[in-house]
Amino acid sequence: MKGNIILIGFMGAGKSSIGSYWSEKKSRPLIDTDQLIEQEAGMSIPEIFKELGEERFREIESSVLEKLYEKADQTVISVGGGLPLREENRAVLARLGTVVFLRVKPETVLERLAGDTTRPLLQAENKGARIRQLLEIRNPVYEQAAHLVIDVDDKAPEQIIRELEAALQHDRKD
Ligand code: S3P
Repeated sequence: MKGNIILIGFMGAGKSSIGSYWSEKKSRPLIDTDQLIEQEAGMSIPEIFKELGEERFREIESSVLEKLYEKADQTVISVGGGLPLREENRAVLARLGTVVFLRVKPETVLERLAGDTTRPLLQAENKGARIRQLLEIRNPVYEQAAHLVIDVDDKAPEQIIRELEAALQHDRKD
């Protein structure tokens, strides 16, 4: 297994912001798969969904992950919320490093993303219902894919980082 830290979890769980804190603290590079996808496609994520469709987005997502596997080590990697859904992607994640699931409640997601227009999958009439529906399907998948789980609701980034640090140390001793 490679020495990366990979943050997975639902949209709005804080993968990007926790990733950026962790990379600064540990002086490690930070990679965000959504950014790699946008670079590869030369379009924003909402544009990719609109112009090419979700299936194509998922194909680009998987190919970006494959390429990432070849070059990333000692890196903090934040992945899009839907990436662990494909079994082939979960297999790559497991070899890429320690997979940390940032678990979030639907109320927290709704509070954080109420006014967000950049997540195509959440542009529903009833955003709360949509979030609950997706979380119900995805949480078991995230749990299955993760080596470590951290609940993030009502916690400051510093606290999440402390818990992550303790969990990683504990993990290493085992
Ligand atoms: C998605 C999550 C998004 C982005 C795309 C699809 C998903 O990333 O990849 O909109 O299916 O959960 P974030 O989790 O970083 O918001």
